[in-house]
Amino acid sequence: MKALVTGAARGLGLGLCTVLKSRGYDVIAACRTATPEIEALGVRVVAGIDLSTQASIAALRAGVGGEKLDLVVCNAGLNASFAAVKLSEVDLDVMAYEYQVNALGSVRTAIALTPALNEGAKVIFITTGSGVTGKSPPSPGQWGYRMSKMALHTMAYQLSAELRPQGVAVRLVSPGAVNTDLMKRIFAAGRITTAPDTLPSPVAAAERLYPRIAELTLETTGQWVNFSGEVWG
Ligand SMILES: NC(=O)c1ccc[n+]([C@@H]2O[C@H](COP(=O)([O-])OP(=O)(O)OC[C@H]3O[C@@H](n4cnc5c(N)ncnc54)[C@H](OP(=O)(O)O)[C@@H]3O)[C@@H](O)[C@H]2O)c1
Repeated sequence: MKALVTGAARGLGLGLCTVLKSRGYDVIAACRTATPEIEALGVRVVAGIDLSTQASIAALRAGVGGEKLDLVVCNAGLNASFAAVKLSEVDLDVMAYEYQVNALGSVRTAIALTPALNEGAKVIFITTGSGVTGKSPPSPGQWGYRMSKMALHTMAYQLSAELRPQGVAVRLVSPGAVNTDLMKRIFAAGRITTAPDTLPSPVAAAERLYPRIAELTLETTGQWVNFSGEVWG
């Protein structure tokens, strides 16, 4: 079984590569810049994948070559706006970049890799509990992060219908809070009080998320679930 993970060089992506490899997957780790940690894992590293660019589509295809994939995990994402600003104070360039990576980066990954999917393959989009109104209270300042994840949700839902005839299942999965650089920056900005080092490590978070990948079938395609399997949409 062959899997590709984006944003694989650190954080949750690195944890996912570690867990998928331990489950016997032949892993392709797509990243902007390789780290010693992903190099040491003994998986195939495809660097130079900046998902904010159109060039990432061709770069991903070239990285995969003619190989067929059984699993794609669209994990790359960023939260670039930590200040609790009002809507009128939002930096629209930052918001646009969050869209470029969180929403359009996942679109680019899907465009690039859909032709490489085996029948019965799975596509997982890593999202957030803060991506939906009603699941999480308003978080001042998080305009672009939350809006871009909602755009991702719409795309994934649409894609699930498009890929069903190919036997490919799609799911949005929220990992819950994880001790990564993203969470450390949120803590440093005073936006959360939970110390990041009390949160699950990226590998532990990937372990608890893995069943949500393994259990996915066409019966449940199009769903949004959290790491413990609660269906959120
Ligand atoms: N940590 C949490 O508590 C938490 C909670 C809910 C959801 N999530 C989601 O989990 C995913 C991973 O986040 P994380 O916590 O592991 O954050 P992280 O430690 O900040 O890592 C972010 C990853 O995304 C990649 N990335 C950012 N911009 C990119 C771009 N332009 N092109 C390609 N890759 C890019 C980074 O690559 P570089 O190394 O090249 O920067 C890195 O691998 C995100 O989708 C995030 O929304 C995390």
